[in-house]
Amino acid sequence: MRFVENVATEKPLSVIGLGTWQFGSKEWGYGGSYDDAEAGRIVKRARELGVTVFDTAEVYGFGRSETILGKALEASGGTEGIVVASKIFPVFPIAPVVTSRGVGSAQRLGVKSIDLYQVHQANPVVPDSTIMKGMRSLRDVGVIRDVGVSNYSLDRWQLAEKDYGSVVLSNQVQFNLLQRKPLASMLPWAQSSGHIVIAYSPLAQGLLSGKYTSANRPTNGVRSANPLFLPENLDALAPLLKIVREIADVHGATSSQIGLAWVIHQPNVVAIPGASSVEQLESNVAAADIRLTDEEYSRLTTAAEKFHPVTGLKAIPKIVASRWKH
Ligand SMILES: NC(=O)c1ccc[n+]([C@@H]2O[C@H](COP(=O)([O-])OP(=O)(O)OC[C@H]3O[C@@H](n4cnc5c(N)ncnc54)[C@H](OP(=O)(O)O)[C@@H]3O)[C@@H](O)[C@H]2O)c1
Repeated sequence: MRFVENVATEKPLSVIGLGTWQFGSKEWGYGGSYDDAEAGRIVKRARELGVTVFDTAEVYGFGRSETILGKALEASGGTEGIVVASKIFPVFPIAPVVTSRGVGSAQRLGVKSIDLYQVHQANPVVPDSTIMKGMRSLRDVGVIRDVGVSNYSLDRWQLAEKDYGSVVLSNQVQFNLLQRKPLASMLPWAQSSGHIVIAYSPLAQGLLSGKYTSANRPTNGVRSANPLFLPENLDALAPLLKIVREIADVHGATSSQIGLAWVIHQPNVVAIPGASSVEQLESNVAAADIRLTDEEYSRLTTAAEKFHPVTGLKAIPKIVASRWKH
């Protein structure tokens, strides 16, 4: 495993972490045996392979993800050296609400202290100065250690840090070959100032594995609502996936691993892929050892820039229509 350099954290951050939205979440559709057994095996194996960052949120499975993760960490050796990251969904996030929700997450996780407590998304009405009052209280009594944000613009991340009055360590944003916005200014700032970008959906929800095509679309709730999985987008992705495959062959790797290697090619990034099996987890962790050449990195980026999926308002009627075709 590789760890993030140039960032002062109490515990080392593995460049590949584990995302656990899948745990206890009906929308991923992995079922009871996944929640009861496979999730625990995934966490145990992740630890054995050196993963230190485990990401969850109070909204995932309405708290079930936190409970499953907490139990799995406990059963596999506790949380020493592990960075447990959770998130508050900021509905009416006045300070007393923030503190009681933080305590609730810590209880479900079974930890005294949440290592990284993130604001799941920017609240359009309530300013961060209000939310950060609650964060400071949680920190002062030791319920949380570091504070992070998620789905924040760079400007708002920087403002949130001013409001918090201390380092807001990370911003968890969508970052993968198909969603490269963080490269423009967020990541350079993080790199020059000792912050972290946590890359969610680093495999574009499995799309970059290459296993999904217009003839083989995933049927679960999350992905049938994701425009990237529309048949025409899957067809348009073929040229990029071909290049991903070619580079994967050079490294004796899989397409998914090359997708992850692209994300963690940059410093100050932690990728947190989810996994539906232990095998996927093992493969994702092994991506930490793949070093793309600069030429491979540019070739992938250039190919990805040529992919223009149908998204936004144009995609909505197509998603609605295609959901009836499963
Ligand atoms: N902050 C936020 O707003 C936010 C939003 C989204 C996600 N997240 C976090 O980020 C984590 C990851 O994002 P995500 O789950 O959306 O997407 P992702 O990690 O890009 O995709 C995960 C899915 O890809 C497939 N997969 C994983 N490893 C694979 C492999 N080695 N080979 C082939 N397929 C593989 C699996 O699905 P199948 O096997 O079913 O194909 C898996 O469920 C989440 O668990 C969550 O913790 C945060």
